[in-house]
Amino acid sequence: MRSYIAILALLSFFNGVPANVPDCPGPFNPPNNISTQVVYPVSGNPATFPTDYNCVYQINVPQGWSSYVVVTAIPSSNTTNSTILQVIDFNQKVENFQYANNETFYFVAPGGRIKLSTQSTTVSFQFSVQWFSMPHGFGNSLFQISDIAVYQPTFVNVSASDSQASTVDAYYINCHVTAETRVSAITIYSDSTYDRADQLKNLRSVLIFDGPNENSTCLGSAYQLFKSNRQFVSTAKTLTIVQLRPNPYTWGSQLLIQDFENTKEIGEYRGVGGQDTRSIVMDASKQASAFSTYSYIGSSSDCLFNITGTGKLDVYNGGKSESKSNLIASYSDSSNGVNLPQKIRGVVRTYVLTGGIATVQIGVNNGCSLLTTNVAGFISSRGYKTDLAFRYPDDWQWFFSNGPFNYTLNVQTVDLSKNESLQLRIASNKTDVLNVVYNSSNPPMLNTVLSGVGNEMDVIYLAVNPKTKGFYIDFTATKVEKSAVKTYGFIMICAIIWVGLF
Ligand SMILES: *[C@@H]1O[C@H](CO)[C@@H](O)[C@H](O)[C@H]1NC(C)=O
Ligand SMILES: *[C@@H]1O[C@H](CO)[C@@H](O)[C@H](O)[C@H]1NC(C)=O
Ligand SMILES: *[C@@H]1O[C@H](CO)[C@@H](O)[C@H](O)[C@H]1NC(C)=O
Ligand SMILES: *[C@@H]1O[C@H](CO)[C@@H](O)[C@H](O)[C@H]1NC(C)=O
Ligand SMILES: *[C@@H]1O[C@H](CO)[C@@H](O)[C@H](O)[C@H]1NC(C)=O
Ligand SMILES: *[C@@H]1O[C@H](CO)[C@@H](O)[C@H](O)[C@H]1NC(C)=O
Ligand SMILES: *[C@@H]1O[C@H](CO)[C@@H](O)[C@H](O)[C@H]1NC(C)=O
Ligand SMILES: *[C@@H]1O[C@H](CO)[C@@H](O)[C@H](O)[C@H]1NC(C)=O
Ligand SMILES: *[C@@H]1O[C@H](CO)[C@@H](O)[C@H](O)[C@H]1NC(C)=O
Ligand SMILES: *[C@@H]1O[C@H](CO)[C@@H](O)[C@H](O)[C@H]1NC(C)=O
Ligand SMILES: *[C@@H]1O[C@H](CO)[C@@H](O)[C@H](O)[C@H]1NC(C)=O
Repeated sequence: MRSYIAILALLSFFNGVPANVPDCPGPFNPPNNISTQVVYPVSGNPATFPTDYNCVYQINVPQGWSSYVVVTAIPSSNTTNSTILQVIDFNQKVENFQYANNETFYFVAPGGRIKLSTQSTTVSFQFSVQWFSMPHGFGNSLFQISDIAVYQPTFVNVSASDSQASTVDAYYINCHVTAETRVSAITIYSDSTYDRADQLKNLRSVLIFDGPNENSTCLGSAYQLFKSNRQFVSTAKTLTIVQLRPNPYTWGSQLLIQDFENTKEIGEYRGVGGQDTRSIVMDASKQASAFSTYSYIGSSSDCLFNITGTGKLDVYNGGKSESKSNLIASYSDSSNGVNLPQKIRGVVRTYVLTGGIATVQIGVNNGCSLLTTNVAGFISSRGYKTDLAFRYPDDWQWFFSNGPFNYTLNVQTVDLSKNESLQLRIASNKTDVLNVVYNSSNPPMLNTVLSGVGNEMDVIYLAVNPKTKGFYIDFTATKVEKSAVKTYGFIMICAIIWVGLF
């Protein structure tokens, strides 16, 4: 027995195992004093764990409680690229890490585990757990955790007849949703302010429960929802979304909520935020594929640049609707690229591909104001085909180009019923070529083409009625070729160069 221990000790020595390697302990349970944070292996700095060390740490969270878990696992060498840490949540969803520095998790049900597998490297490892009994028991100022019960609860009703999707900011969220059929939710992650990867993880603090309150089964976090590229759908009529710990870095990200009746045909469904130009591959070979973008009060526009592939892309101002009352554009294989780029206005904009596989190039919240190629599309107001109310219902749109374009405008519909006005202006080097102002006593002739050659065009809609129906104008802009004289000059120069070659 003694020699056995001696051999073990010798082996440990040659493996470079520190004398105080912690045992792999049993489950971690809430301490008697719930305010006490439990730290493993010891408080203070992380401890170094030897190579080939494996342990699964079980975190017990009684139903109706929650826990806040912080894990650090830093390998001494990054060369192996192997997973040293797995965090497995109460739904058995796994996140793999090669490196984890203060990663935070929220376990709200039994079954959460932390799995350390050091493999061929030593790992500096530590985790801490703090338990809370939900919803009360929050409010420990040391960890700046608030009682979720004090967040202002919001109540959202969605119905199958809605064409507008509801949005709720992920920051301080305590939202209770009731649907006519079932609730569908996706996460639209805003990355405009902070570093993308770092901010995204903070959405782990937002949890989505399949029922009327946070005692219901948890479907997962807003982070998992985002990563899934799918919807979370409630089994009954209610869904609850709660942030367990106020986290300012979640501000701006949205939970998009709809009645599942409208989204049930959608398979992959992404929330696309930020302000980048993205290429989004949509696979609607089996089920419709969709993505939604969001702009606060519709202040910025998407620019739909390009669609390549097969299928039909429908664009909705709002969410996908059965009635298609808010469908504003539709592009099929045959029309690929013909009418693009196109500015897409609105608060929520939903792009739905059916019957094909396509790559959609889109400038999310990114304009479309600079014209470089010919366009043949439309100009519509933010609230067009919606019943959204805008506090500032004015709508001003500006287009410009480096060289002269022949702009044409053909007003299809405009709401001038409550003292609105619509101004159309085309200018060439700051000199007006066209400048007309319409109002109720001076309405435009519908279906009539106005045109002018210039390098700048404005559409200015002034309104006070928050629920104005807005406008829709057919719009083209065609590059104007050089004048005959210039063309002649160009030919002459070419001819001279041509002759010069011989
Ligand atoms: C519980 O733990 C907290 C923080 O560690 C401490 O301040 C408090 O005095 C403890 N309460 C009891 C009853 O021991
Ligand atoms: C390992 O990777 C992390 C994140 O990529 C990096 O911050 C860290 O410095 C790397 N460590 C070593 C030892 O290379
Ligand atoms: C580890 O990953 C990095 C970056 O992804 C890569 O450059 C490197 O070759 C990988 N190393 C190994 C050993 O696979
Ligand atoms: C992790 O966070 C704690 C508390 O915020 C901080 O003291 C510590 O330095 C952080 N660790 C690392 C490795 O960044
Ligand atoms: C939601 O609907 C319920 C009745 O089903 C109603 O009592 C409640 O006021 C509605 N809430 C909102 C925010 O419209
Ligand atoms: C959740 O469950 C706990 C423990 O059973 C209970 O005290 C609490 O009132 C419940 N909360 C809600 C909103 O039903
Ligand atoms: C559309 O995308 C394809 C593939 O990325 C590219 O070859 C093509 O030039 C793009 N067309 C326009 C008008 O941007
Ligand atoms: C501009 O377009 C309009 C409408 O198609 C046309 O009548 C007009 O001749 C065009 N002007 C120029 C300079 O091409
Ligand atoms: C209509 O609009 C004009 C110009 O904006 C303004 O001067 C006038 O007071 C408005 N009238 C009403 C009834 O709102
Ligand atoms: C506008 O001005 C630029 C330079 O001042 C000139 O090259 C261009 O021809 C002008 N465009 C028109 C449409 O007059
Ligand atoms: C419409 O515009 C004309 C010309 O600018 C103006 O005289 C008239 O008062 C306006 N009508 C209304 C209802 O604002």
